[in-house]
Amino acid sequence: MSAPALALAGGTPIRTRPFPVWPVFGVEEERRLVRVLRSGQWGRLDGAEVDAFEEQFAAMHGCRYGIAVVNGTVALRIALLAAGIRAEDEVIVPPYTFVATATAVLEANAIPVFADVSLATFNLDPAAVAAAITPRTRAIIPVHFAGQPADMDAIRALAEPRGILVLEDAAHAHGASYRGRPAGSLGDVATFSFQSSKNVTAGEGGIITTNDAALARACRSVHNCGRVPEGVWYEHHVVSGNYRLGELQGALLNCQLERFEEQARTRERNGLRLARELGGIPGLHVQQRSEACTRHAYHLFMMRIDPAAFGAPRAALRAALDAEGIPCSAGYGYSLPDQPLFRNKAFGPYVPGAGERLDYRSARCPNSDLLCRDQALWLGQNLLLGTDADIDDIVAAFEKVYALRHQLSTLDSSP
Ligand SMILES: Cc1ncc(COP(=O)(O)O)c(C=O)c1O
Repeated sequence: MSAPALALAGGTPIRTRPFPVWPVFGVEEERRLVRVLRSGQWGRLDGAEVDAFEEQFAAMHGCRYGIAVVNGTVALRIALLAAGIRAEDEVIVPPYTFVATATAVLEANAIPVFADVSLATFNLDPAAVAAAITPRTRAIIPVHFAGQPADMDAIRALAEPRGILVLEDAAHAHGASYRGRPAGSLGDVATFSFQSSKNVTAGEGGIITTNDAALARACRSVHNCGRVPEGVWYEHHVVSGNYRLGELQGALLNCQLERFEEQARTRERNGLRLARELGGIPGLHVQQRSEACTRHAYHLFMMRIDPAAFGAPRAALRAALDAEGIPCSAGYGYSLPDQPLFRNKAFGPYVPGAGERLDYRSARCPNSDLLCRDQALWLGQNLLLGTDADIDDIVAAFEKVYALRHQLSTLDSSP
């Protein structure tokens, strides 16, 4: 019998079957969409789907108020504007996140200040946040990265005595919880995304959740052209726009919520198993679970490779996994301060004047740099919706690549 070989070197791949596809939908979605279609009530001010969704989603996330909007980016900006963030206020954000966490700050005419993430949890490092606070800091946006709540006790302890707003970017964290309390209710206000890849999706969409009645009222006004409930239709109280979600998306989201609990349980069961089994491979560091995390949403299963300890670079591992039938992403190619947008301070009409005095080249975020440059690995949430056999394959592929890593050095596995 010949020696085992990596699929990349001509061996038999671990799997050729596809993983579960996302999104998941069925006749329930078809029926509900057709019902809205035939009703002719396609706008949220005419129908009841978005209202019902807001109520249920907010309640699931420990909040009295939910304001559905067209996407997660706009949700962040609306929350900042509604909270009274003003021109040139500073807002602390992680550098390891989707660009919207920072651009929403710019679009609120405020200044993003980067604080590095922890290499263990991939969430904001409270020590870096403390070092980034200045007298101009007005908000902190912890991202619950990959679906694990950030260190909210430490972040709130920094924010509350200083009157700093805590805005959770919960785009990855539908259904996650922290010391038993749902993500979305862990700060002053929170935002979620329903973009295509997210754990609850309508293709696009977002929501703001809060328990603060005044903030909810302000968000509702900003999302609806500056209207107020007691005003007439053509009466506008603040400069804003139309960011209302439509009823067709509301109908889809209501169906997706019915599927959600079971999917969330499956993702967490599979995520915990992967963490146990992949965490034993030398050179692989799976996202460390905080003792305060009582439910991880597993939007991503994230880990990092220490190439020296593993014995191969990230690109080689990814190429080998791909050949074994396991899609594994390297995630963000840039830490945010290195994005051309920040390097060139291409802020358009926003924060006029600030561009000259800001220098994002001096932002020191070595952990985020390392993750982007050499180390981050993401498995998408759809992989975690699979069966035990699917998870067996993922584990087997990582173990196989590790065991046969010497074969990688003889192959050209550039990405
Ligand atoms: C962490 C984070 N924040 C914000 C967003 C923005 O959400 P959306 O794509 O719905 O605008 C995303 C989505 O991709 C995200 O991953």
